[in-house]
Amino acid sequence: MPDSRLRLRIAVFVSGGGTNLQALIDGKREGAFQSDLALVVSNKPEAYGLERARQAGIPTFVEGGDKSLIQALEDHEIDFIVLAGYLKIIGQDLLEKYQGRIINIHPSLLPAYGGMGMYGLRVHEAVFKNGEDFSGATVHFVTEEVDGGHIILQLKTNIRKASSPEAIQKQVLRLEHVALKLALSLIEEEDIEIRTFVRNR
Ligand code: GRF
Repeated sequence: MPDSRLRLRIAVFVSGGGTNLQALIDGKREGAFQSDLALVVSNKPEAYGLERARQAGIPTFVEGGDKSLIQALEDHEIDFIVLAGYLKIIGQDLLEKYQGRIINIHPSLLPAYGGMGMYGLRVHEAVFKNGEDFSGATVHFVTEEVDGGHIILQLKTNIRKASSPEAIQKQVLRLEHVALKLALSLIEEEDIEIRTFVRNR
């Protein structure tokens, strides 16, 4: 029985340590999804996520060089983008070409604690300061509105026992890793609908 699941060629965009990227690398190896991690992009040449890609044998591309990002994506026949700790706003040209095929992982239960300026530890500091009982991870489609796209899935956790923003961050990061792999698996099974991709668009 041929496998009817979608097989995507994914570019993962990182800006920092890349633990979400590592979760995808490990998940692919464990069979959590079948799509190919075909390129890792970063806006920061020093991002450790690029080193993780190199260790996994995945091609990398650092923005800002001579070649345009779009050209690099086309050269690697990318048809899906995962933002994983990527701290730059997606340009209009990229959005037009890939909207409906770009997802992001955010470390809160959106729409709470989302939007411009809400990223990394800042999210957990705000959650901790407000004494929230719960937090979690959200995977959503990327649109021009920061953290505003349609929500694909959320994983929620009780943080009453967390004694600091760092403790919340650690608890939520584990959920992010699971959520991202699960979202890709649902997309491959087409339980989550994505836009039809026109390569030369
Ligand atoms: C994580 O909190 C992620 O949700 C956010 O960036 C942080 C770092 O992610 N988008 P990573 O360890 O670089 O994957």
